[in-house]
Amino acid sequence: MKNHKIILAGCGTMAHTWLDYASNRNSAEIVGFVDVNAATAKALAERRSLQVPVFTDLSDALDQTDASLVFDVTIPAAHKQVVTTALERGCHVFGEKPMAESLKDAREVVKTAQRTGLNYFVMQNRRYQKEIRAFKQLLATQTIGQVGSIHADFFLGPHFGGFREAMESPLIMDMAIHTFDQARFLTGADAVSVYCHEYNPPGSWYEGNSSAVCIFEMSDGSVFTYRGSWSAVGHSTSWEADWRVTGSKGTARWNGSDNPVCEVIDPSRPRGFMDHVHVIEAENTWPGQEGHFGCLGEMFSALEEERLAETDCRDNFKSMAMVFKAMESAGSGKKIFF
Ligand SMILES: NC(=O)c1ccc[n+]([C@@H]2O[C@H](COP(=O)([O-])OP(=O)(O)OC[C@H]3O[C@@H](n4cnc5c(N)ncnc54)[C@H](O)[C@@H]3O)[C@@H](O)[C@H]2O)c1
Repeated sequence: MKNHKIILAGCGTMAHTWLDYASNRNSAEIVGFVDVNAATAKALAERRSLQVPVFTDLSDALDQTDASLVFDVTIPAAHKQVVTTALERGCHVFGEKPMAESLKDAREVVKTAQRTGLNYFVMQNRRYQKEIRAFKQLLATQTIGQVGSIHADFFLGPHFGGFREAMESPLIMDMAIHTFDQARFLTGADAVSVYCHEYNPPGSWYEGNSSAVCIFEMSDGSVFTYRGSWSAVGHSTSWEADWRVTGSKGTARWNGSDNPVCEVIDPSRPRGFMDHVHVIEAENTWPGQEGHFGCLGEMFSALEEERLAETDCRDNFKSMAMVFKAMESAGSGKKIFF
């Protein structure tokens, strides 16, 4: 099995999850930590009992180690620079979402991956869950017929502190990427237009817009709507969002945690003013690992099998485009075409 020598950049909260995975993967070896704050990197090395050098600059780390892979777990504003530096220096990158803070930057990063022939795979952990796999299967097998509408509600009130509370568009930029990527994953369709209204409701503790409503038209003719808030206290949805998908034969619902369920027209009963329906539960048989571990497993397998991961930057760019086109729509007050 290939040995991946890894520099982890960004020694904050998420670094632990990435290190937990790496410590259980035989082919992975951490060879250094990078953080702009040297004390943070040192504290992480000590806490994880890893005797590895720490750096404040990725280029120095790459000069002084024989790393072949960089984990980018830095803040969103640093992703473009970290990923570009790593790719230009001959390393593959597995990185946290979002790829970049503008569509132009995301496009440049994809081009750099293409030019260097190296891989940049992006964390989309919310694709790796038994129930979303069951939901996708249920839609793909046309249990509710042809899909016409997809609706996702996301309402939570987390107090993060830190970079999110200072961002201009914390919900759309830092969180909606997950839900938008889930919509593409579930339907197999890409967005072709969006209208978005972003706002910061009373009681919000964010400087930027913590709430948004978006309408996307998708490439298969379906419509995807998103209603979300990160300053909504009470009646929380799951972090996976609360989904309702309507098709030509019925409706499927998934609350983001329980098994998806649909109600479809009962063919044994005559059609009426309101059709009789029968209930079909999704089959929850997906055997993979969930969350970050599932996505990291796919990234390593793809690297070792010399194929693109499900969340390769080229695919992820299409989810990122939904984020940035939504922000463009919110800024201009107009429907934006992709
Ligand atoms: N996929 C998920 O579910 C999920 C959940 C939480 C966070 N995230 C993402 O993970 C990333 C990190 O989030 P976090 O909560 O760990 O943030 P954090 O603030 O706890 O940690 C980020 C670290 O990066 C360091 N840093 C900043 N710029 C750097 C640079 N240029 N080079 C090296 N280090 C740098 C900071 O000093 C900090 O220690 C973000 O992109 C965030 O959106 C993803």
